[in-house]
Amino acid sequence: MTGTWDEAIAKRIEETASRYPRKESALLPALRIVQEAFGCVSAENEIRVGEILGVPAVRVREAVTFYSLFSRTPLGRHRIQVCRNLSCTLLGGVRVLDHLRRRLNLEPGRTSPDGLFSLETVECLGRCDESPCLMIDDRHHGFLTEDKIDQILASLE
Ligand code: FES
Repeated sequence: MTGTWDEAIAKRIEETASRYPRKESALLPALRIVQEAFGCVSAENEIRVGEILGVPAVRVREAVTFYSLFSRTPLGRHRIQVCRNLSCTLLGGVRVLDHLRRRLNLEPGRTSPDGLFSLETVECLGRCDESPCLMIDDRHHGFLTEDKIDQILASLE
């Protein structure tokens, strides 16, 4: 999803910030609003968020680059995040990633030319009991096999 910054986005961020005792505490929800509106958080929009919340630009940048929830470059329609941490790796995470690479003809860190998929590797998704696992957009998928991955991909719009 892409778009241009407008007053509606600024207003949503201000409304969100009004629910917190200090405006700067709304940094992560504000970045989420921007991520959803544009499909990424650009440097320009980092500055805008910082101005609204009274947060230095460097702190906004730190949050954007620390949390895998945010991306600084435009993503595909579906964002696939494969866990590469210990439990998932031991239980087949490499096989999961290889299968996705082949199926999508895509390397981690890249977006498909048709803009449909972005493939990434991330640290622990907090669902180690369902290893190997991944997230597609906001949805978790665990106990993955090649067949299950194929079914998930087929179910995507
Ligand atoms: S190691 Fe993959 S979810 Fe924790």
